[in-house]
Amino acid sequence: MVVAIDGPAGAGKSSVTRKLAQRIGFRFLDTGAMYRAITWAAIDRGVELNDAEAMAVLSRDVEIQFDGDRVLLDQRDVSELVRSPDVTRNVVFAADSKGVRDRLTELQRAIAATGSFVCEGRDQGTVAFPDAFCKIFLTASPQFRAKRRVEQMLANGQYVDFDQVMADQTLRDKQDREREYGALKKADDAIVVDTDDKTIEEVVDELEKIVKSCLVAMDRD
Ligand code: CDP
Repeated sequence: MVVAIDGPAGAGKSSVTRKLAQRIGFRFLDTGAMYRAITWAAIDRGVELNDAEAMAVLSRDVEIQFDGDRVLLDQRDVSELVRSPDVTRNVVFAADSKGVRDRLTELQRAIAATGSFVCEGRDQGTVAFPDAFCKIFLTASPQFRAKRRVEQMLANGQYVDFDQVMADQTLRDKQDREREYGALKKADDAIVVDTDDKTIEEVVDELEKIVKSCLVAMDRD
């Protein structure tokens, strides 16, 4: 069983989906971490990032696994490494490669087949799990999302400028929404949740109710 949660950067996806998964007793799949792991591997091995074919070959050469919250690439824990600004800046190349997307979609389906999962990303309800019993599109205004990102970075001891964060976010939104395959978009049957002005707990409560109503609807059909 899959709950598919998609949405743009900074809508609070990772914190709320992790908590939601805990509450409903599902496992959690962070698909962004998979695109990040491929990007990190490409930088580490000197693979040409804008060579979509080379990126696709790389994605088939490496093994990505999850151990709880940790991401393993060929058995090495790369959880911290994949969050580096260098990876964030370059993740667009992996995300734009059709070959990489196909490979990661295949992996996501294989992982999800092993249990009940909350899968978080950009294309989970549209491409990876079009038959998911529950689809949620998590969003928030650009100002709120940028503000959250700044707070997150400050909490991690990184000094950042709000305008710079906003500019990076606008670029990433455009790249995510306009990519040829796996673009960020709401699935027709997804429920939209706006997280502006809401605490994590409030959003998790709202999502839990939605999942419960999806379960009721599924039982009825
Ligand atoms: O947390 P953040 O919004 O920074 O991004 P993430 O969820 O870690 O994902 C990193 C990047 O991978 C995003 O910028 C997306 O472009 C891409 N991605 C994707 O294309 N498809 C997915 N299912 C998940 C992430």
